[in-house]
Amino acid sequence: MSDFSVRLLRSEEDRAATDVFRRALHVKEMTDEEWSGISASMQPDRGFGAFDPELIGTVRSFDSEVTLPGGGTAPLAAVSLVGVRADRTRRGVLTALMRAQFEDFAARGYPAAMLHASEGAIYGRFGYGIAARGKSIEVDRHRARLRPEVPAGGRITLLDLESTIAQWPSLFDALPRTRPGMIARSPHLWPGYEREVRRATTPTATAVHRGPDGVDGYVTYHVERAHFGAPALLKIQSFHHASPDAFAGLWRHLLSVDLVDRITAEKRPLDEPVELLFTDPRHAAVQKIQDEGWLRLVDVATMLDARTYLGGPLVIEVTDPFLDHNSGRYRLSEDGAERTTDPADLELHADTLSMLYLGGWRASDLAIAGRVRATGEAALERADLLFSTRVNPWCGTFF
Ligand SMILES: CC(C)(COP(=O)(O)OP(=O)(O)OC[C@H]1O[C@@H](n2cnc3c(N)ncnc32)[C@H](O)[C@@H]1OP(=O)(O)O)[C@@H](O)C(=O)NCCC(=O)NCCS
Repeated sequence: MSDFSVRLLRSEEDRAATDVFRRALHVKEMTDEEWSGISASMQPDRGFGAFDPELIGTVRSFDSEVTLPGGGTAPLAAVSLVGVRADRTRRGVLTALMRAQFEDFAARGYPAAMLHASEGAIYGRFGYGIAARGKSIEVDRHRARLRPEVPAGGRITLLDLESTIAQWPSLFDALPRTRPGMIARSPHLWPGYEREVRRATTPTATAVHRGPDGVDGYVTYHVERAHFGAPALLKIQSFHHASPDAFAGLWRHLLSVDLVDRITAEKRPLDEPVELLFTDPRHAAVQKIQDEGWLRLVDVATMLDARTYLGGPLVIEVTDPFLDHNSGRYRLSEDGAERTTDPADLELHADTLSMLYLGGWRASDLAIAGRVRATGEAALERADLLFSTRVNPWCGTFF
C-alpha cells in the first residue's frame, strides 16, 4: 500500500504544484509577479497532485485537438508540468499520477494524450511512444543561395515584438494543421510564449507571408551572438506555412536579414525540404534528430478507428500492461478498425503502437529493433503500407 494519495488539485494549490515541478527541473523559484503570469497558463481542473500529506508530485494537462492521418481530428490531452519532489522519487508517485490522469482523460472523452519528454526513458512504460520526431538544422547564410526555380510569389510584412504577441494566435489559427500530430493551441499556451519572447535580450520579429488568399505563413525569430565578434545566429522560434510560396518566401526573407551568419531551427518536420531550396543542399546541415511528440492512445479502439489506412486488412494484437482494457486484437482496413478474434498478423505493445499510429515509423524498422513481431503472411509489408502517411508527423507546438 502506498503512503501517499493522489487527487485533483484545487486552484489555490496550483502555485505550490508549479514550485514542485520547477524544483524537479532545477528551475529557480517564481516571484509573485512571475506567478501571476504563469497562473494564466493553467487550465483550471487539469492538475493532479500527490500528497503524503505534503504536496510531493504533480502532473497537468490542457485540452486540445490533434490532427490524424487522413485529416480527421481527435480530442487530445496535452500533458505538461510533470515533476516529483527529489526526496520522493522512485516510489511510484509518477505512476499513480499517470494512472489518475488517464482515468480523468477517459472520463472526459479524451482518447489520446501527448507530451514532450525531458528524458527518453520515462514514459514508454506508461504507453507513450515517440510518434513524431524533429530535426535541428543550421543554414550557412553567407553561402546558401536559392535555386532559380524556388517559388517567388507573395509578399512579406514584418511585425515587431508587440505586434507578434498581439497577432500570434490569429496567425497560428489562420493556417491549416495539416500534418498528423499537429495540435490546436489552447488560449492557455500563449501567455507562456509571450513570457519567453519578452525575456529574450534581443528583439523578436515575425515575418508574415501573404499569398493571393491572405496569410499563408509566418516565421518568428530573433538574432543573437554569444559575444562581440562571435557569429550572429538567427534563431527561428516558430515557422508555419501553408503553401510552397510561403515556405520559400519566408526562407528568402530569412536569408535577406543583414548581420546574420547562421540560421538555426530546432525540431523541424523530418521531411521539410529546406536544403532543396539551395544551389548546394549541404548549406543546410541537419545537426540532430530528436523525439518531438510522445503519443499515448488512451482509448486504443476509438483512436484506431479514427484514422485512415491504406490497403489491409491487417490484424494487430496489442498488449497494454498499463491500461489493460486496451489489450486485444484489432482488425484494420480501409473501412476502419474493429475488435476481432481473428489470428494476429502483428504483435506489439501500446507504446510501439503509438509510434506507428501517426506514420512516424515503419513497422519493418520497428521489427528490426524487436519492437513488433510479425506472425502473418507478408505482415510487415502490409503494415508499412497500412500505417503510411503522405507527410511526416509533427506536433509543432511546445508545451
Ligand atoms: C521523472 C519523474 C517525474 C519520475 O517520478 P517518480 O515518482 O520517480 O516515478 P515512479 O517512481 O513512478 O517510476 C516508475 C518507474 O519509472 C522509472 N523511472 C522514473 N523516472 C525515470 C527516469 N528519469 N529515467 C529512467 N527511469 C525512470 C522508475 O525507476 C520506475 O521503474 P520501475 O517501475 O521499474 O521501478 C521524477 O524523477 C522527476 O520529477 N524528475 C525530474 C523532472 C522531470 O524530468 N520531469 C518530467 C518532465 S517531462
